[in-house]
Amino acid sequence: MKLFIVGAGPGAADLITVRGLRLIKEADTILYADSLVNEEVFREAKPEAEILKTAGMHLEEMIEEMIERLQAGKKVVRLHTGDPAVYGAIMEQITLLKERGVDIEIVPGVSSVFAAAASAGAELTIPDLTQTVILTRAEGRTPVPEREKLAELAKHHCTIAFFLSATLTKKVMKELIEAGWAPETPVAVVYKATWPDEKIVRTTVQHLDEDLRKNGIRKQAMILAGWALDPNIHQKDFRSKLYDKEFTHGYRRGVKS
Ligand SMILES: C[S@@+](CC[C@H](N)C(=O)[O-])C[C@H]1O[C@@H](n2cnc3c(N)ncnc32)[C@H](O)[C@@H]1O
Repeated sequence: MKLFIVGAGPGAADLITVRGLRLIKEADTILYADSLVNEEVFREAKPEAEILKTAGMHLEEMIEEMIERLQAGKKVVRLHTGDPAVYGAIMEQITLLKERGVDIEIVPGVSSVFAAAASAGAELTIPDLTQTVILTRAEGRTPVPEREKLAELAKHHCTIAFFLSATLTKKVMKELIEAGWAPETPVAVVYKATWPDEKIVRTTVQHLDEDLRKNGIRKQAMILAGWALDPNIHQKDFRSKLYDKEFTHGYRRGVKS
């Protein structure tokens, strides 16, 4: 028995992978929970495919539904928004499924962090500015381990991508500023990246909460913070070594100018 966990991508139906779409076409049963999974992808499913919404089920119930169908010889796909590896709560499903002798294959998807960066026209790693991206969430009802508190992470002054944090922006601002971030540090917030009603709000750390409130954004948003999000970055001369004409690497010999 094998269950396929598939990343559906951030929203636009054509941002699922070719492999993910093939599995949807072949599936007898598709389970999905998230309001951020685009139901358009189900148009590609077999007409007789069973599509189950799991939002009202608890973990064990959902596992039973999967096992019942797998035991009946059906092909079962579990769809997750974005990429299943970040905030997908897949490991608790995998643990129970493995205990029941089910193999798992995971198909990656385009995470909202990368869809949001694309919509904002941003590179998250700018040479000489930052070479690190932290994927995290602000602490709300779900605790964050002590050593991963924002105050600690922010000390790196790299790009930080905040998932699940649109209602916690006051806290995000306070902690970034306490960690020494300049109040005018750029922030790009992408609401519903790649959906028809996508909205991009460009702001700064000091105005983050106010600007999200003004735009009525309190969910389904990716917050990208750091100088890599500077809207004027193009006017600055950050260059990578990779394309530097003086830099030698495995595929090209550098020339002295
Ligand atoms: C439970 S997490 C799932 C993340 C998902 N696995 C991914 O890779 O994007 C849900 C959070 O992801 C972010 N998110 C997911 N889809 C989004 C989208 N289309 N636009 C902006 N943010 C999105 C939001 O921060 C949202 O609160």
